[in-house]
Amino acid sequence: MKRYVQVGCGFRGIFSFSVPLVKKYSDYGELCGVYDINTKRAELVSKYAEKDIPVYHDFSTMLKEVKPDTVIVTSTDCTHDKYIIEALNFGCDVICEKPLTTNFEKSINILDAERKSGKTVTITFNLRFHQLFMELKRQIASGVIGDVLSIHYNWMLDEAHGSDYFHRWHSQREKSGSLLIHKSTHHFDIANWLLDQDPVCVNAFGTRRVYGDVKKAPAKRCLECKEKCKFYFDVMYKTNKELYYDCESEDGYLRDRCVFSNEVDIEDTLSVNVLYSGGTVMSYTLNTSAPTEFMRITLMGTKGRIDATTETNTIDIILNSGEKKNFVISQDLRGHHRNADNNIRDYLFKGATTEMLTQAADLRAGIMSMSIGAAANVSMKENRRVYLDEFYKDVKL
Ligand SMILES: NC(=O)c1ccc[n+]([C@@H]2O[C@H](COP(=O)([O-])OP(=O)(O)OC[C@H]3O[C@@H](n4cnc5c(N)ncnc54)[C@H](O)[C@@H]3O)[C@@H](O)[C@H]2O)c1
Repeated sequence: MKRYVQVGCGFRGIFSFSVPLVKKYSDYGELCGVYDINTKRAELVSKYAEKDIPVYHDFSTMLKEVKPDTVIVTSTDCTHDKYIIEALNFGCDVICEKPLTTNFEKSINILDAERKSGKTVTITFNLRFHQLFMELKRQIASGVIGDVLSIHYNWMLDEAHGSDYFHRWHSQREKSGSLLIHKSTHHFDIANWLLDQDPVCVNAFGTRRVYGDVKKAPAKRCLECKEKCKFYFDVMYKTNKELYYDCESEDGYLRDRCVFSNEVDIEDTLSVNVLYSGGTVMSYTLNTSAPTEFMRITLMGTKGRIDATTETNTIDIILNSGEKKNFVISQDLRGHHRNADNNIRDYLFKGATTEMLTQAADLRAGIMSMSIGAAANVSMKENRRVYLDEFYKDVKL
């Protein structure tokens, strides 16, 4: 049986990894220790998992004492590299939440460590395990629309989902790398995976016109705010209280910071163009204040077109010959990607089936998707097109 330890015991870490590992996958693996910079939060793992899980006050000590096979990294994005590298150097495999990391330099350091260690890093791109994207992958791999010429790709986050990033650490570039890394890494990975090509060149524009305008901030946090605007987050509600409010004494982290805070330094509306190694061009947008939440993608190929959307959970194919095909997907993309999460956990903890093998995301996939966001950040900052070669010229990817 595999021995696991976990670093990062926030909402995702506890409910998507610690609890399922203890309650559902105990025949396959054992959670032998947890560490979080916020010890109070780490102590909650035992409560939710309904089993005593040792809490460590230091990551290195946890590795030395437990000698785990695999380290699960579910801490904030900017800290992933530190734990991945230490785990690899110690001789462990790593399962890391997306995004792999937050900039080019850190990704190269991780790659170096993986190669030296002979161990592996797996990135948890759960969207690859979602039925709609699985069906899209099957169709494109079958060659039905021929070679993909272009992708038109839009992700609309509704106000509740979109605004939530602006309450939290995600809205600080230093911590998340921006939404083009934190969030779009999922979307870019899907594009890379569907195409089976590498991104080559990136151009981006981004604006912030909805959140982060400090003139509109009536209070530091929702809890102290009399206005209770439409972006109000209730930090006293059930798990929010236990996981965040009750743990503030440890690190001062506010889960309900005002979305108009001057700490917000990322864009809320983004547009990115990518040129791929096989010649495909992509046009992508991310919006964080939409009336409804959905994804829409059109892939235009040499033999026809595929349209897919989560608005209707459908995939439509129209071939140049006039032939049409339609697929209705039963799995809803909303609701915390619940089924995709179940599927990826089955893969991670129980082992892969043949189809799942093509869904597993390795370190290279993590680097490629993060790199589009990192290059887009450079493009916006320096007002120019950015070639990934600039950053990886001395590295064999
Ligand atoms: N795949 C998905 O669908 C998905 C969904 C949500 C979050 N995530 C990812 O999961 C990770 C955790 O996100 P979350 O929503 O649980 O955030 P969170 O803020 O609830 O949890 C982050 C945890 O990291 C801890 N932490 C901060 N700095 C640390 C450090 N230096 N060392 C150790 N621990 C530290 C915090 O105390 C906190 O407990 C992130 O990487 C995020 O991108 C993935």
